[in-house]
Amino acid sequence: MSVTLNERLELIHRQIQQSCESLGRVAVALYDEKTDLLHTFLYSSCNNPLKNYQIALSNVPSLQTLALSGEQRVIRDLPETLAGSTSHHSQQILQEGYRSSLTIPLKLQDKLLGFLFYDSYEPDIFGDTLLSTLTLYAQLISETISHDLASIKTLRGAVVTAREFSRLRDEETAAHLSRMAHYARLIAIEVSEVYDLTEEEIEYIHQFAPLHDLGKVAIPDNILLKSGALSVDEKVIMRSHVIRGVEIVDLMIDEFDLGTIRHIDILRNIIAGHHERFDGSGYPAGVHGTTIPVESRIVAVADVLDALTTKRPYKEPWPFVDALKHMRTAEAHLYDPLCLQAIATRLDEMEQISRRFVEDPVEVA
Ligand SMILES: [Fe+2]
Ligand SMILES: [Fe+2]
Repeated sequence: MSVTLNERLELIHRQIQQSCESLGRVAVALYDEKTDLLHTFLYSSCNNPLKNYQIALSNVPSLQTLALSGEQRVIRDLPETLAGSTSHHSQQILQEGYRSSLTIPLKLQDKLLGFLFYDSYEPDIFGDTLLSTLTLYAQLISETISHDLASIKTLRGAVVTAREFSRLRDEETAAHLSRMAHYARLIAIEVSEVYDLTEEEIEYIHQFAPLHDLGKVAIPDNILLKSGALSVDEKVIMRSHVIRGVEIVDLMIDEFDLGTIRHIDILRNIIAGHHERFDGSGYPAGVHGTTIPVESRIVAVADVLDALTTKRPYKEPWPFVDALKHMRTAEAHLYDPLCLQAIATRLDEMEQISRRFVEDPVEVA
C-alpha cells in the first residue's frame, strides 16, 4: 500500500482548506489504554507544534471529560481560554498562533482510540456547516485508523492462538512482548531525527515489535523448551525461527490478503532482522551496520534489554543501569550506537514500563 495514513490526512487537510483557508492544522493523537498515555501520531500543518509528544490522559482533565462524554469541544478563542495554562501542549499551540480549535474524541466500539484536533489561525470559525463537514472527515479518519489497527490486532491474536496451540511456554511471555514493544517505541522516538522516522512509522514499529519471534511457533517443543544448553544441530533449528517467521508472514500476506496492512514491510524487516548484529555477526543474513533496516536494529536492542533486565530460567534480572553498561561496553559492537544512546536517554521511562508490565500469562501484548 503506497499511501501512508499521514498522506491521507494531508490530502483531507488540503480539501478542507479549499473552503476554510485558516485551518492550519489537523492532527491525531492515539490513546493507549494500558499505559493511559496519549501520544502524537499523525499531523498535517505548515509547522508542527507537537511532535513525539506524550502525556497521561489523567493529566489532561479537559480531554478526559471529552473521552467520557464522547462530545466534541469547540474553543472559539484559544488565547482567552488557555490564558494561564502552563501545559506544554497549550503553550505550543498558542506560540504557533492558533486562535480557535475543534477537538473530537475518536472512538471504536465505545473504546477511546484517540483525539482529532483541528486548529485555525482565525478565532471563532467553527460554524454549523464547517462543524458537520469536519465531523464527517473525523469519522473517515477514525475508520481508516481503526481498520488498520484492528488488522494488526487480528494478526497478533492469530499469533497468540497459534502459540497456545503449540504449547509455547518460553521466555516470550505477554509481559515481555509488551515491555519490549514500549522500549522499541521510545528508542524509535529518540533516533527518529537522524534516521528520518515518521510518527506513523514509529507507531507501526511499536505495534509490530511483539511479532518478532513469530517463527518460534514452527520450532519443536523439545528444542524450544529445553532447559539445558542446545546442541550444535539444535541451535541451527532454533535459529531457523527467523526464516520460518518470514515464511509465515509471506504466507499470511498471500493467503489472508494481509498485503493491505499498511507498512507490512516493517513487520517483515522486524522478523527477518531482529537477530542481525551491527558488526555483521548476527543471523540469518549476517548483514551489518545501517544495511540492517532501522526497525530491526531498534527491536534487537529492545529485545536484548528486556532479556537482561528480567528473570529467566538461567539468570536473575539485572538492574537497568548494569544492563545498559554491559550493552555499551562488552557488547557495544553488536548494536546500533544511536539505539544504545536512546536507552541511556530514556532509561527512567523504560524502568517505569518494566514495573508496569509484570508477568501475566493471560494478557495479550
Ligand atoms: Fe528471535
Ligand atoms: Fe523476544
